Amino acid sequence: MNDSIAKTIGVAFAVCLVCSLIVSTSAVSLRDLQKENKLNDKRIKILQVADIYNPDESISEQFKKLDSKFIDFNLGIIVDEYNNQNIDEYDQILVTRDPTQSSEVPASEDIAIIKNRENVGKIYILRDELGSIQKLILPIRGYGLWGTLYGYISIEDDFNTVSGIEFYEHKETPGLGAEVDNPKWKTSWKGKKIYKDNQVALSVIKGKVEQSDMQAQYKIDGLSGATITGRGVTNMVAYWFGDSGYASLLRELDYES
Ligand SMILES: Cc1cc2nc3c(=O)[nH]c(=O)nc-3n(C[C@H](O)[C@H](O)[C@H](O)COP(=O)(O)O)c2cc1C
Repeated sequence: MNDSIAKTIGVAFAVCLVCSLIVSTSAVSLRDLQKENKLNDKRIKILQVADIYNPDESISEQFKKLDSKFIDFNLGIIVDEYNNQNIDEYDQILVTRDPTQSSEVPASEDIAIIKNRENVGKIYILRDELGSIQKLILPIRGYGLWGTLYGYISIEDDFNTVSGIEFYEHKETPGLGAEVDNPKWKTSWKGKKIYKDNQVALSVIKGKVEQSDMQAQYKIDGLSGATITGRGVTNMVAYWFGDSGYASLLRELDYES
């Protein structure tokens, strides 16, 4: 009998088996592609923050214009080698789970709520024709309202003026905290100064920056209805441009230039 219970169950089982095979095969075969797309998304953000992105050109070709370097955060210097790691494959976020490659940030210093900071990070350098540093692209991250925001800040060759900001991953609310991706807001960072008298001064304020404000160059407009995200961005700038982040490297580069 074609409509016996055993046959119905058998057909259902066979359909399930075929479907699960299709799903798992596509999941496995698409994994590499997904990984590559994620890497490319990140690379596009890096190229955008460096202001050299051209959507009509290959991403890997454009990426060759940037010089990737390791930074030893404990020593505050650029290092050419780290653990025999291939710099293109080195994932500074992944290593924060490895206690031999990262250190716990003491609660009193953890203003960006990152919990663990990698011992060695990765920065990108855009050079001019003579090989001098034109821009530095520096990874930043910190907690907003719903989770950690991951992004990059680029700075000019005075090692103080912001050239751009981009986030490649966050969990903030569309229309509120996710306005960190608003092109107008991102553009407003251009030309702002990070340090004043050797201290990080740049912050996202609540409300709008007054043109007449003598301190306007250290202030970014708040995101309306998203004060907490704004505070998170302020805190991540303070952390990453402070002594545990890029401060000593930037001081050294400024001294050399
Ligand atoms: C569903 C929901 C989503 C929210 N998302 C955000 C957010 O992404 N970022 C943020 O700072 N505030 C968000 N808020 C608002 C915060 O709870 C808080 O009220 C706000 O940050 C205060 O900012 P304001 O003083 O500018 O209004 C959200 C609120 C609700 C109800």
